[in-house]
Amino acid sequence: MKNIYSNIYKNSPKNLNIAIKILKKNNIIVVPTETVYGIAGNAYSKYAVKKIYKLKNRPKKNPLIIHYRDISSVKKDAKINDRFKKLYKKFSPGPITYILEKKKKSKICKLANAKLNTIAVRFPKHNSIRNLLKKIDFPLAIPSANIAGKISPVSPGDVIDEFGKKISFILDGGRSQVGLESTVVNLFGKTKILRPGAITKKHLKEVLRERLTTFKGSKKIRSPGLLKKHYSPGIPIKLNSKKGNNKVAFITFGKKYKNGKNIFNLSSKGNLNEAAKNLYKILRKIKNSQFKSINVAKIPNKGIGVAINDRLRRAAK
Ligand code: TXA
Ligand code: MG
Repeated sequence: MKNIYSNIYKNSPKNLNIAIKILKKNNIIVVPTETVYGIAGNAYSKYAVKKIYKLKNRPKKNPLIIHYRDISSVKKDAKINDRFKKLYKKFSPGPITYILEKKKKSKICKLANAKLNTIAVRFPKHNSIRNLLKKIDFPLAIPSANIAGKISPVSPGDVIDEFGKKISFILDGGRSQVGLESTVVNLFGKTKILRPGAITKKHLKEVLRERLTTFKGSKKIRSPGLLKKHYSPGIPIKLNSKKGNNKVAFITFGKKYKNGKNIFNLSSKGNLNEAAKNLYKILRKIKNSQFKSINVAKIPNKGIGVAINDRLRRAAK
């Protein structure tokens, strides 16, 4: 059944079949995942992949994450190694992306991985997208469903806020549970966290039992999503602030602050997972209101707080 918005489709077997038909014609759709909503297209089709880049206005040199149903389906496209097997066993399906060496024979469209010799692979956990992946024989290229550089969507309404009616099919999977994009970890060469997320450095270390570095940015862009400016609500953001006013929205965290006209608490319980889930919702709400700028209180830099601070720093650039 369709929703009041003509392009939002409830998750049902019938609608999944419609989604599959669209994908098989090398057209694109929006799908829910546990992290954020994404724009999905056949990763083997240059037609589908081109449509994704065009819709997002995404720079061609920023590669896409390829989404698979399981480890056996990834083997034809990427060389798997021991570190990958260990992490996969522990964390997949789930909010983590692995950078692996691309196989020469792989059919992944060259545009999808920006002609690199690596590909980013992920196994999403959300039921709808998993069911979809189980019914098709090609992987899906799925970047976040936002215009390049803007805030990622965590609900079908957010996708409409980004693209209006430009997308004919949005699969409704409810609110994204994690609310921040997957952790990206490089496993071709040195193990390195390229983008922090819900799976933290500590989680990875416990499995790999090795030293791990976090990519801090360099002139040569390893993971273009680590471009300094990203996730932007389009108004100035100041970090580590103590208050706001009626023109300045104040994003806070923890028991000390009550929600108010200009006060937006990420989690009044002081729960970082809840804060992560609320971050993009709140940034989008503020973007769509009258505030001229945003002040953000200090957010604890532990667990998923590292990822929250990473996104806020980039949004503030
Ligand atoms: O949670 C997520 O990962 C979401 C959902 C929809 O799955 N997707 C997502 O995709 O965040 P996107 O395109 O917004 O971010 C992909 C990130 C970018 O930072 C990109 O540069 C990096 O992954 N990436 C992709 N392929 C890469 C590669 N071969 N080497 C290094 N980084 C890569
Ligand atoms: Mg993105």
